Parts: sequence; structure tokens; C-alpha cells
Amino acid sequence: MATAPQASPSLPTGSRSGPPRIQPRRFAFRDLPSVPQYWFADNPVITHVENAFSLLIPPGERFFIRSVRHFEDRAEDPALREQIRVFAQQEGHHSQAHQDFNDSLAAFGIDVERERAYADRVIRRIERILPKKMCLGATVFFEHLTAVGAHMLFREPLIRDSMPEEMQRFWSWHAAEEIEHKAVAFDLFRAAGGGYLLRVASAITALCLIAIPFDRMVRRMMKDDGKPVTREMRAEARRIQMKIAGPQLRLLAHYFRPGFHPWDLDDRPYLEGWYESIGAEGESLSSTARA
Ligand SMILES: [Fe+2]
Ligand SMILES: [Fe+2]
Repeated sequence: MATAPQASPSLPTGSRSGPPRIQPRRFAFRDLPSVPQYWFADNPVITHVENAFSLLIPPGERFFIRSVRHFEDRAEDPALREQIRVFAQQEGHHSQAHQDFNDSLAAFGIDVERERAYADRVIRRIERILPKKMCLGATVFFEHLTAVGAHMLFREPLIRDSMPEEMQRFWSWHAAEEIEHKAVAFDLFRAAGGGYLLRVASAITALCLIAIPFDRMVRRMMKDDGKPVTREMRAEARRIQMKIAGPQLRLLAHYFRPGFHPWDLDDRPYLEGWYESIGAEGESLSSTARA
């Protein structure tokens, strides 16, 4: 697990850090059956929220890849074209690993196939409704959302300490790669002529289209589970969420600044901490990376 630096990266004004190398790595669980049913803080409420997020990841990331691929010929810069290629590889690997994790939820009575089919329909519907440029705009927003989540995972020990080792490894790997490629969709959106209003409109529309289905998934899985949720469990879930919500919302809000760029937030120190923490394992994680 990454040892996150204590100081939070600042938001430099006027300085843009160059992006790190985007490196696709495959992830394999070591002992998925050892992950407990309520793997986040031993709390069913937050665990099912995270499970719903995980179930949306495979179809969501395939949507991101299609949205980016649709405009890749608008990237004149060869460096950006290469970034698009490795971005797609990373997201493909993420989908596969989340598929494995999602399958494991069946052991706890979750109707994984029902949720998988539903998540697929929800994403396909968004793709059908939105024009292509808005699909790319939505991808830009969701990439920001995941990059902020990734940043928070490395920054906030409460999040990491609430998970067993296996899930820390899993989410840290995904988070690090989300940070590495966080600006790819954004840079392509700009290269394709996407402006501020479209970027914001796409974000708001996509959020509206995903919020209710997401809530539905959480509720259905809690029903599948059948465990009565006590007042204490809800209070504990609220306590953890409140602790994280403030800084997370502030980081999310940067998206709505007209001059926003994902690398305004330089979270490379977290990445470097993770590279160091994976040490020798990085060799095997990196084995699929292009030479
Ligand atoms: Fe991803
Ligand atoms: Fe991503």
C-alpha cells in the first residue's frame, strides 16, 4: 500500500506540471475470497455504495474508451495520440479487474448479473441520449471525479485504513493509474474544440442521468443483502462520509472554473509514493506495459 506523504499537494496558480508517464499494468487479486462482506469500515452502507461504484466501472470505462476513440483523429499532437492509446489500455485493465471483484459479490447474495445488466443499460442509455461531443464532455467530468477520488484515497488515511490489505492494493492501483491519465480526455476535448459551456453542461447532464440509477443499485443490493441497517451503522457511515466530503467537494468544484486543467492539482507526490510502495511488485504489475 502506498505511503502517502503527509503534506497535501497544493493547487499551484499559473503553473502546470507536466503529466507523468501513463503506464498500463495488470492487476491480479492475491486472495479475493478473503475480502469480507462489509469490506469498507465493516459498514454495509458505505460498502454497498462502493460496490455500486465498482459495478458501474466496467461499462462506464468502456464508454470512456469509446467516447475518446471517437475523437482521437482530432488529436494532432502525436504525444496525445499515444496517451489515448495507453489510456484505453489502462481503462481496459481496470474493467477486467473490477469484473473479477464484482463477480465475488455473488457470494454475499448480491444478484450480480442483474446489477451488471442494469449498469450496462444505464451507460448505454446515456450514450444514446447525449451527442458524441457531450459523451466526451461527460468522460472528462467522470475522469475528474475519479481523479479526485484517487487523490483522496492517497491523501486520507481514514479511507485506506478502512479497507483490508487486498482492497487497499486494488484501489491504490486503480487510483494511481487514474491520476496518471487524468488529463487525457480533457486535452482531447480541447483539441476537438470543446469549450467551457459544453464541458459544464455535459457534466451536469451526466450527473443527473447517473444519480438515480446509482441510488437504485445501492438500495437493491442492500435488499439482497437482507442485513438490517441499524441507526449506529448509518451514523458511522455519515461520520466517515462527512470527514471526506468537505475536501472532496472543494476539489470537485475546481472543475467549474473556466480555466480549469486536471494538472492544476499536482498530485504526483502521491504517485511517487505509490511507485515506491509497490517496489518489486511493480515489476509484475508493469509487465504488460509497452516497452
Ligand atoms: Fe479506470
Ligand atoms: Fe480513468
